[in-house]
Amino acid sequence: MERVESQNRGGPMDGKVCLITGATSGIGKATAMELASMGASVVMVGRDRGRGEAAMAEIKEESSNASVDLMLADLSSQEEIRRLADEFKEAYQRLDVLINNAGVFRSKRITTADGMETTFAVNHLAYFLLTKLLLDVLEASAPSRIVNVSSGDHGNGTIDLDDLQGEKGYKGAKAYSQSKLATVLFTCELARRLDGTGVSANCLHPGVVGTNFGSGVSGAFGVMVRALRPFMLSPAKGAETSIYLASSPEVEGLSGRYFVKKTEARSSDASHDERLARRLWEASAELTKLPAQIR
Ligand SMILES: NC(=O)c1ccc[n+]([C@@H]2O[C@H](COP(=O)([O-])OP(=O)(O)OC[C@H]3O[C@@H](n4cnc5c(N)ncnc54)[C@H](OP(=O)(O)O)[C@@H]3O)[C@@H](O)[C@H]2O)c1
Repeated sequence: MERVESQNRGGPMDGKVCLITGATSGIGKATAMELASMGASVVMVGRDRGRGEAAMAEIKEESSNASVDLMLADLSSQEEIRRLADEFKEAYQRLDVLINNAGVFRSKRITTADGMETTFAVNHLAYFLLTKLLLDVLEASAPSRIVNVSSGDHGNGTIDLDDLQGEKGYKGAKAYSQSKLATVLFTCELARRLDGTGVSANCLHPGVVGTNFGSGVSGAFGVMVRALRPFMLSPAKGAETSIYLASSPEVEGLSGRYFVKKTEARSSDASHDERLARRLWEASAELTKLPAQIR
């Protein structure tokens, strides 16, 4: 497939290749828009061709950057994540920034094609698998960055290693906060394992942002999200910390940190449990059929 190379436009992200999941709406789309405006070559990942192409056209138009690409993958499917990683590596020689942003809230327990609980699969296993599959190109492009979108709600989370997928009793809010705690634990463990490689890994809470998040969700959570949406941050505002971690020289070399409002913050006590992080890593490797080693 022919790719449009990023023109040298004098932007701070000229020459950088950024891959963003969940780039068809909300925070991910706003992140893609700003990074394209800063001159990056942006690879948007979406699962729906229509939504993806519409978002890509809007971003190209508004950013005046033709180097915006769309790759399709349903991130609940490990096979599609593997295909996405192959497709990316066939088309691009480098990856400067990987932003794992796609996320869902499911009030009912639904399983994926791989038999995984969907919240855990999309919000955690997809981040783990895609990152592992792209580590070689990230390392070859070092200094490079991994940015994982978590949530302040990780503070309500616990990890039940004996029931990661809510088989013993599923609650949407519990599954969501567990998945977002998993993101912080994964980021810290990844940073430890990547020490000395020139690849950083940081995570963030974007704020409470008025996006498509929670639309279509039934029950009290859905009602609350829809009622509060007019008072929430705009997607552009909610994308600021992701953009900061992807592009700012201020965070060059920082790794394994959690950010809120572009400022380092202390994540929950549970997220500092290194043994738990290691055990979650090992369980995730097993569930994605990958070796636990970093390479
Ligand atoms: N909004 C908030 O207040 C808030 C607060 C804390 C954390 N977050 C986190 O921020 C991230 C972005 O959420 P958002 O608020 O921008 O919500 P959003 O507007 O619903 O965007 C979520 C994105 O994820 C994509 N996605 C969902 N399931 C997918 C799948 N199976 N395969 C591929 N892509 C999939 C969606 O694609 P489609 O367009 O195809 O649905 C969409 O592009 C999430 O990780 C969320 O947990 C949000």
